[in-house]
Amino acid sequence: MRTVATLSGSHGTMAGCSWSQAVHAENATYWPLSARLPLGALPTAVPCARLYTRVVLGEWGLAAMADRAELIVSELVTNSVRASADEDGRPRYGDAGLPVVQLRLASDHARVLVEVWDGVPVPPAPRLAAPDEQGGRGLALVAALSDRWDWTTVPGWPGKVVCAELRSR
Ligand SMILES: Nc1ncnc2c1ncn2[C@@H]1O[C@H](COP(=O)(O)OP(=O)(O)OP(=O)(O)O)[C@@H](O)[C@H]1O
Ligand SMILES: [Mg+2]
Repeated sequence: MRTVATLSGSHGTMAGCSWSQAVHAENATYWPLSARLPLGALPTAVPCARLYTRVVLGEWGLAAMADRAELIVSELVTNSVRASADEDGRPRYGDAGLPVVQLRLASDHARVLVEVWDGVPVPPAPRLAAPDEQGGRGLALVAALSDRWDWTTVPGWPGKVVCAELRSR
């Protein structure tokens, strides 16, 4: 029994970053493997997203990229969960209830595209953390582990999507 859905080509209404949008528009079979996981914006979303990533990449025969993808997913989902919370770390409930974070994984059998969407209209702000700072290194880690990363707004959707692409090394 397959444990995850693999969607052929369809990106739904969740557009990717400009480069992934471009390849997608060119040819819907460019990313023939695709899987999506909507999650409540809670700290528990992070281990769920990590495990999902490992299982999906294993099913796709890309287990060799799972360590890197899992770390990237962990940083991006953590950022989205934090951004969806108030100063006390509580999720900012809206009219629709608990805020949602969406993870989407896609692949052409060689590369992996990670996309993490949240409904917060504030862009990620990569910075150079000072040596004595505890945080501020997540996006630097994403940049180091991926071949490229970016973020974009999504037409018709609130918030933004942060994307990272990995190639096998
Ligand atoms: N999804 C997001 N929505 C809004 N702001 C974000 C998002 N992701 C990152 N940011 C902003 O970018 C900053 C840098 O993110 P980064 O992941 O590099 O560091 P951090 O989350 O502050 O610390 P660390 O990841 O090391 O725990 C964050 O502090 C936050 O202000
Ligand atoms: Mg972070």
